[in-house]
Amino acid sequence: MQQNTMIQNTNIRTGPAYLAAILAVFMIIFSSCDRTRNDKGYEYFPDMAHSWPYDTYSENPVYEDGKTAQPVPEGTVPRDEIPYQYPGSFEGRELAAKELKNPFEPTAKLIKRGKEQYDIFCVNCHGPEGKGNGNLHTSGLYIIKPKSLVNDKMKNEVTDGEIFHVITRGWGVMGAHGAQIDPDDRWAIVNYIREELQANSDNQ
Ligand code: HEC
Repeated sequence: MQQNTMIQNTNIRTGPAYLAAILAVFMIIFSSCDRTRNDKGYEYFPDMAHSWPYDTYSENPVYEDGKTAQPVPEGTVPRDEIPYQYPGSFEGRELAAKELKNPFEPTAKLIKRGKEQYDIFCVNCHGPEGKGNGNLHTSGLYIIKPKSLVNDKMKNEVTDGEIFHVITRGWGVMGAHGAQIDPDDRWAIVNYIREELQANSDNQ
C-alpha cells in the first residue's frame, strides 16, 4: 500500500499536467513583463494614489495670470524664522548695539561651539587671537587689515548686540555672514570672543 502511494505521487510530479502547469506559470511571469516600461499595467485599487491638483509650474485657469505658482505675499516669513530688523547702516549698528541683548549664558558648551564657528568663519581674517592678523591678511592676499576684536574699544564700548549685528550684516569692507551662520551660532561666537579671546588678550 505504502509503495503504491509513493509511485502515484511520483507520477503526479512528472506527469504532463504538472509540467503544463509549470509552463503556464512561467508564461504568465514572462508575459507580464513590460519591456518598454511605458505601460503601468493594471492597477488594482488605485484609491487616491493619483492626485488631481495642478503641478507647481503648470498652467492654471483659476488665476488671472494663468500660473499655479503664485508669488509669495509681501511680508511672508519662513516658519520659525524671525526676520532680522536692523539694517546694515550706521544707524542700524547703533540701534542693534542698544537694543539687541545677548540671550545666552556663556556656558563651556556654548564657548566651545563659538570657537568652532569662529575658526571656520572669522579666524582667517581676524586671527587666532582676534588681533586682526589672520593668514588671509598676513599672506598678503587680503590687503585691508581686519580690525582687532580684543582692543579696549571692543572690550569696553562695543556691545554684544553690536558684534552680533556686524556678523549678521557685515561692516564696511567686511561682508555679511547672516546667511552662513545661524543666529544661535552668531551668539556663540560673540560669547567666545568675550570669554576667551578678550579675556586672554593684552588689549592690542
Ligand atoms: C574676509 C575677512 C573677514 C572675515 C572673514 C571676517 N571679518 Fe570682521 N572685519 C574684517 C575687516 C576688514 C573689518 C574692518 C571693516 C571696516 O572697518 O571697513 C572687520 C570688522 C569687524 C568688526 C567691527 C570692528 C570695529 O572695530 O568696528 C567686528 C566686530 C568683526 N569684524 C567681527 C567678525 C567676526 C565675528 C567674524 C566671523 C563671523 C568676522 N568678523 C569675519 C574682515 C573680516
